[in-house]
Amino acid sequence: MIEVHNVQKSFDGNQVLKGINCTFETGKCNLLLGGSGTGKSVLLQCIVGLMQPDLGSITFDGTMFSNNKVQIRQEIRRKIGMLFQGSALFDSMTVYENVEFPLKMLTPEMSRQERRDRVEFCLKRVGLENAGTKMPSEISGGMKKRVGIARAIAPNCTYLFCDEPNSGLDPLTSIKIDELIHEITHEYGITTVVVTHDMNSVIEIGDHIIFLYKGQKLWDGNKDEILNAQVPELKEFIFSSSLVRAAKKVDDETEGGLAAATTDEAINI
Ligand SMILES: Nc1ncnc2c1ncn2[C@@H]1O[C@H](COP(=O)(O)OP(=O)(O)OP(=O)(O)O)[C@@H](O)[C@H]1O
Ligand SMILES: [Mg+2]
Repeated sequence: MIEVHNVQKSFDGNQVLKGINCTFETGKCNLLLGGSGTGKSVLLQCIVGLMQPDLGSITFDGTMFSNNKVQIRQEIRRKIGMLFQGSALFDSMTVYENVEFPLKMLTPEMSRQERRDRVEFCLKRVGLENAGTKMPSEISGGMKKRVGIARAIAPNCTYLFCDEPNSGLDPLTSIKIDELIHEITHEYGITTVVVTHDMNSVIEIGDHIIFLYKGQKLWDGNKDEILNAQVPELKEFIFSSSLVRAAKKVDDETEGGLAAATTDEAINI
């Protein structure tokens, strides 16, 4: 579990994070949801240590991350896998080499054969067992995301952070990527944090959702609770999506019917 306590961050007097308290639960897809400019990426960067909060603390499974010794921070960093927006693959490396890269960096004690086994396992897990020799320029956006996921989980990450994993993907590919992240999270008991403003993802994989608004957490709950949340800012955000209006209608008409808002419906909207 990752615990965020009273995290504050300002830039030139502009307070972007106004004392965030939240937890990201183990073995779940935790979604950081909110509109543009609400501070999702800044919070993510504070959590993974790319940015230092002005105030507050972050703990990973009980170990303080912010304001701790360099060695302890490095140990936690080693357990973090990151899927960057746009995948951020190395263009000059093959798919195989991209996935192997963090293993070479983080686990130099691994033999070449062990690395090979791990890369092949991860590529197979994301459905790309035959793509190892391809260059990033030769594969689709959805495949790049899969490579990014394989690279993130290659060093057996305990925590997985995904910044807008669906950006630039068509609805069907988005759902497949969401499902893959969800499956991997549950299969390996990873604490996953997904930054998103995509309501489709909320409905598909929102085990635990944290809604940010203007640098504050206004609500948290799960995908079954979100459609009945009574926070005006959240209602305005979620019901701006026609998909969610359709899902809500189904939910009202059939008891517990959110599951009936099928993928087909999602794709048609
Ligand atoms: N390095 C920085 N220096 C100054 N201001 C910053 C910096 N990073 C972010 N901000 C400001 O912080 C605010 C929140 O930005 P952030 O990137 O966290 O938004 P977001 O919720 O991720 O939005 P989006 O959905 O568009 O990615 C914005 O007003 C942004 O301009
Ligand atoms: Mg962002």
